[in-house]
Amino acid sequence: MEKKKQPAQLLLGPIPAALIGCGNGTENNIITLAWVGVVNSNPPMISAAIRSNRHSFGIIIESGEFTVNIPSAEQVEIVDLCGTLSGKDLNKFDRFNLKPARGLLKKAPMIDECPISMECELEQTLNLGSHTAFIGKVISSYVREDILDDKGKIDFSKCQLLGFCAGSYLATTPLGLSIGYTLKDNIK
Ligand SMILES: Cc1cc2nc3c(=O)[nH]c(=O)nc-3n(C[C@H](O)[C@H](O)[C@H](O)COP(=O)(O)O)c2cc1C
Repeated sequence: MEKKKQPAQLLLGPIPAALIGCGNGTENNIITLAWVGVVNSNPPMISAAIRSNRHSFGIIIESGEFTVNIPSAEQVEIVDLCGTLSGKDLNKFDRFNLKPARGLLKKAPMIDECPISMECELEQTLNLGSHTAFIGKVISSYVREDILDDKGKIDFSKCQLLGFCAGSYLATTPLGLSIGYTLKDNIK
């Protein structure tokens, strides 16, 4: 089928619309980010691209830490609210009835209500133009118990995650196929 040529744009997706937790000891904040991704596996590292005018930007620079919280599809309203309102004007934890959760980090809280959370220590920043990439080392991960199977792996049929692509939200549906499933089929 013919593909229609488009102007250069970021059509990578679905990607998670993540809720990033940050804090400086005085205030806690949450920012919604879609420009997040895995950039290294050993040590585990995540990049989070943030514009310098975001209230969270200065908080993360100051504290050197942030958390990455993966919401479920049913939490889409919180995701949109945290991505359209600023911590300059309100406390998002209080306003949206979210509970800050403590792990290993001293300042950045996780979001208790999210099924998956990771704590990151800021390793480096890279100013790329419109956004600065915050590269964080994942120092701990937490998964809600009810979405784990009996082997301790995440069972995505128990929790539909929220995706984002080309400016819209979508819900991810598991196919029930694990990495390498084609190899097993080929052995038959
Ligand atoms: C779905 C979605 C994805 C977003 N992704 C990003 C992003 O990757 N980087 C960014 O700087 N802002 C992004 N934003 C915008 C910020 O979340 C928004 O400006 C927020 O109000 C900033 O909060 P703060 O001022 O409290 O830090 C996104 C917003 C939404 C709704």
